[in-house]
Amino acid sequence: MHKLVVLTGAGISAESGIKTFRDMGGLWEEYDIMEVATPQGWEKNPKLVQDFYNARRRQLLECKPNKAHLGLVELEKYFDVEIITQNVDDLHERAGSKNVLHIHGELRKAQSTKYPELVYDIEGWEIKDDDRCEKGFPLRPHVVWFGEAVPAMEPAIEITSAADIFVVIGTSLNVYPAASLLDHVPENTPVYIIDPNDVTCYGLCEIEIIKEKAGKGVEILIEKLTSKTSNFKG
Ligand code: OAD
Repeated sequence: MHKLVVLTGAGISAESGIKTFRDMGGLWEEYDIMEVATPQGWEKNPKLVQDFYNARRRQLLECKPNKAHLGLVELEKYFDVEIITQNVDDLHERAGSKNVLHIHGELRKAQSTKYPELVYDIEGWEIKDDDRCEKGFPLRPHVVWFGEAVPAMEPAIEITSAADIFVVIGTSLNVYPAASLLDHVPENTPVYIIDPNDVTCYGLCEIEIIKEKAGKGVEILIEKLTSKTSNFKG
């Protein structure tokens, strides 16, 4: 089976009712990144940060995977699909995707503030002020903040380097190192970009833009990749 690698961002979850970050009305218009998504913000006001992520988590519990998430599951019938997501939501998993790598962490998990390798599932939506890790230290969201290391980049690069087809869905490609994954797509690999808006993407030759929202875009992608004329069929 050919390896289909998909890099997803906030746009794939937009039709599930989750706000993107940089679109008009996006989260970074409403909140200051420095206040809620950096180690400095956490040091200054942990309650504000905790409230921000508790609210995101509470909302996530009310959202469902959409047609785009489900379409990527369908593609597993035809391809060895690997998803690399910048999203902290769990909608790919809830849709049923088998291989999902979260490079910016997971909203429904908490980590120890002292020992980041101690990671816990969160029951419900809240990390409470008095929640502690097994060594007695407070818990914080298991999310990669700006300025922090991105440990999952190494496996993400390995997956990307093995792609036969590479698909980008719903990311502005503004955030590094995630956006640099495109530099690791093997030469002559077809790349598809699904996004209703223009996305700047340098240095790739074989790009096909599907200028649609994720749900419709994935439907078109499935049709293209599985049609009789596709080079990848079978
Ligand atoms: P952005 O908000 O930067 O980009 C969202 C992209 O989704 C844009 O290109 C939109 O045009 C597109 N979009 C909007 N609606 C869509 C729809 N219905 N279908 C498909 N695409 C749609 O979000 P990301 O690129 O994911 O990191 O942001 C990357 C990182 O920046 C996030 O992981 C987060 C954020 O700060 C951290 O918090 C560490």
